[in-house]
Amino acid sequence: MSKDTGKFITLEGGDGSGKSTQSRELAEFIKASGREVLLTREPGGAAGADEIRKLLLTGDPDRWDGAEETLLFYTARLNHLRLTVKPALAKGIWVISDRFADSTMAYQGYGNRLGPENVQKIHDVTVGSFEPDLTCILDLDVYEGLKRTHGRSHDEDRFERMDIEFHERMRKGFQAIAKENSHRCVLLDASGEPGVIQRELRRTVQDRLMS
Ligand code: TMP
Repeated sequence: MSKDTGKFITLEGGDGSGKSTQSRELAEFIKASGREVLLTREPGGAAGADEIRKLLLTGDPDRWDGAEETLLFYTARLNHLRLTVKPALAKGIWVISDRFADSTMAYQGYGNRLGPENVQKIHDVTVGSFEPDLTCILDLDVYEGLKRTHGRSHDEDRFERMDIEFHERMRKGFQAIAKENSHRCVLLDASGEPGVIQRELRRTVQDRLMS
């Protein structure tokens, strides 16, 4: 990406790993450094993508299989990239997305057993070579993560209701993604105090993107 464009940062991790709070605080930090920031999320972040979000996150866990889900996530992703992410980056705005393509690899590729090679093929013909400048993956024990989500009242819990083996496969998927993509990925331990995790995130952004 050229010097004039903004940076694209993605936060990834299992359910209850604290991404959303951490993303908001990271946005404040980047704003305080004098940069313009857009905080967005997937699935969603554009009008059409938000409609697809409802289809994906509500209802019975068996409503879609791995292939069906993946195509819906990628339709939402293309809509989000075209209408929100790429225009912002082109204006020099830094974009933080709470989830992006690594979630499809981990949840559908590994969790829902579509297979990483198949997700990669779909990625290549849709998103292509565009990728985040930095991806921070919050790694957490899946029981701990799911325990944290149980206190929340919301109807977008289709994935939280998948069985524990699904979540274990998804976590291993994120760990494999971090290993295979070390040029852009950092795996952070999300079991500690939120303040400690935020400091680690800020240090990573500073070292990798601001210096
Ligand atoms: P969240 O907004 O609370 O992170 O919920 C989004 C849910 O959707 C979460 O359980 C992970 C799941 N998801 C996928 O399975 N694949 C994807 O590509 C994305 C972006 C999310």
